[in-house]
Amino acid sequence: MSGSTIKPWVVGNWKMNPMQADAKQLLQEFKQLLQEKEIAQEKCNIGVAPVAIALGTTQVELAKAVRPVFTVAQDVSRFAHTGAYTGEVSAELLKDSQIEYVLVGHSERREYFAETSAVLNAKAQNALNAGLTVIYCVGESLEQRESGQAEIIVLQQICDLASVVVAEQWQNIVIAYEPIWAIGTGKTASPEDAQAMHAKIREGLTQITSYGASMAILYGGSVKAENAVELAACPDINGALVGGASLNATSFYKIAEAFANTK
Ligand code: PGA
Repeated sequence: MSGSTIKPWVVGNWKMNPMQADAKQLLQEFKQLLQEKEIAQEKCNIGVAPVAIALGTTQVELAKAVRPVFTVAQDVSRFAHTGAYTGEVSAELLKDSQIEYVLVGHSERREYFAETSAVLNAKAQNALNAGLTVIYCVGESLEQRESGQAEIIVLQQICDLASVVVAEQWQNIVIAYEPIWAIGTGKTASPEDAQAMHAKIREGLTQITSYGASMAILYGGSVKAENAVELAACPDINGALVGGASLNATSFYKIAEAFANTK
């Protein structure tokens, strides 16, 4: 399987947005767009990651869509099962609520919550052991890119993850490459730079696991309706993790459509 034959994923990361009424409207508009012009299920996986408190309501709303749209958790506890961990939500509790997907390693978690590779490994391991699919984010800062460290940093992040993933579990991992300097800044990596990094990630993955050639590698960082087609045209870009633009139903729909039609 070459990178370009992998079914793409388009996942909206709502971060700490929006208020309930706006979220409801956003989902309604998105469902309506799917209703008017369906994006075939076999052409693109679509997911939405709301704030934790809205996981349940999002799931209920999305169940009424004309095609499957996954509800994705933005985070998971590094502690497993149940127990005295105030404020935490474990992988098992997510699974128990039929949440099957979770983001791990987003740069905002790494930076603002000081999540080290040890913490991220525990989160990934718990999620995989509970049977969730992990969307694992990697990416370099501007300083690291400018000093020529981008590849090393990103591949090291993949190697960190590899230390806790056992063979078959790679099937349940999606990688999201999100250069930190492109997140929420309006600056997108050029399709050439993004493709070059994705090809390196794929090369690294194929050395680690036999699933490497078939794993989806998403790009994230200022993906918009306007740049989705050219990103989707890159052979190793198998989808997008979308922040800001996923808060607008039309933009998010167009990004999903671009990946479904271009791949
Ligand atoms: P952005 O965020 O699309 O707003 O740049 C992407 C992300 O952080 O997942």
